This record gives sequence, C-alpha cells and structure tokens, in this order.
Amino acid sequence: MSRPLVQLVDIPQRGDARGGLAVAELGGALPFAVRRVYWIYSTYPGVSRGFHAHKKLHQLCVCVAGSVRLSLFDGRREESVILDSSAKGLLIGPGLWREMHDFSSDCVLMVFADAEYDESDYIRDRDQFIRHAIG
Ligand code: TYD
Repeated sequence: MSRPLVQLVDIPQRGDARGGLAVAELGGALPFAVRRVYWIYSTYPGVSRGFHAHKKLHQLCVCVAGSVRLSLFDGRREESVILDSSAKGLLIGPGLWREMHDFSSDCVLMVFADAEYDESDYIRDRDQFIRHAIG
C-alpha cells in the first residue's frame, strides 16, 4: 500500500464561550519550525492557483475561513481534499505537485513554511515535475 498523499493534522481548538482559538505550535500540529507564513485571500472567482511542486520545502496549509479544494499529485497518483475548517491542516512535503481550486469568496488560506521564499526550490513545469518525480 502506498502512503496517502493527503496528510491531515488535527489543530487543537482552545475556543471557549468567547469564541474560537486554534493553535499550531512546534511539536503539536506543526512538525517543523516555521520560517515563513503567507496567506492567500480575496481570490477572484474562478481562479485556480498553485501549479507547482517544491524540491525541499515543507508546508502546513490551514483554511482559516471559507473553503478551498487542494489537489496533490506525486507523478503517478492524484488526491484531492476540501479544506473548510481551521481545525484541520494539510501537510505538503517536497515532491508533490499542488493545485488550489474552488476558492470560496471568503477563503483565507494560511500557509506555514519551513523556509524563506526561494524561487530555485520551485518546479513550475508539470512535465519537468513528472520527470523529476518518477525519474
Ligand atoms: P505564486 O507562487 O505564483 O503563488 P501560488 O503558487 O500560490 O499560485 O506566487 C505569487 C507571487 O508571489 C510570485 O511572484 C512569487 C511571490 N511570492 C513571494 O514573494 N513570497 C512568497 O512567500 C510567496 C508564496 C510568493
């Protein structure tokens, strides 16, 4: 059995009568030390994003508002997951082609990464990715 491409982690919820509070910390929901955080929001209708893989980067994606569909492809298999809860994070390691589709208008997708932005870590050509992935 090959391992699932979609790896979801539970994000501890510490909300109370005042409302929600979710925590992602090293050793908890976060398996790596964070060196960069970015968020995708106000995505225009019908727009899809991503369409790249990383050579080394590890990321944790959390949809803190709205919903989005993430598709992951390892060069052979493709799996898709809808993120619509701040209680779940999607771990995406190196060597996975990712696409983001079906953003709701209110979607805010937070991404925690273990390295600073580095364009040389990207593979943005799908055919090149497949060659890289399956050799
Ligand atoms: P891009 O990788 O195209 O976004 P996505 O894969 O989510 O569709 O990034 C859009 C632009 O933002 C591109 O010019 C690179 C830049 N960028 C940074 O400067 N730093 C970052 O951390 C990220 C994620 C992107």
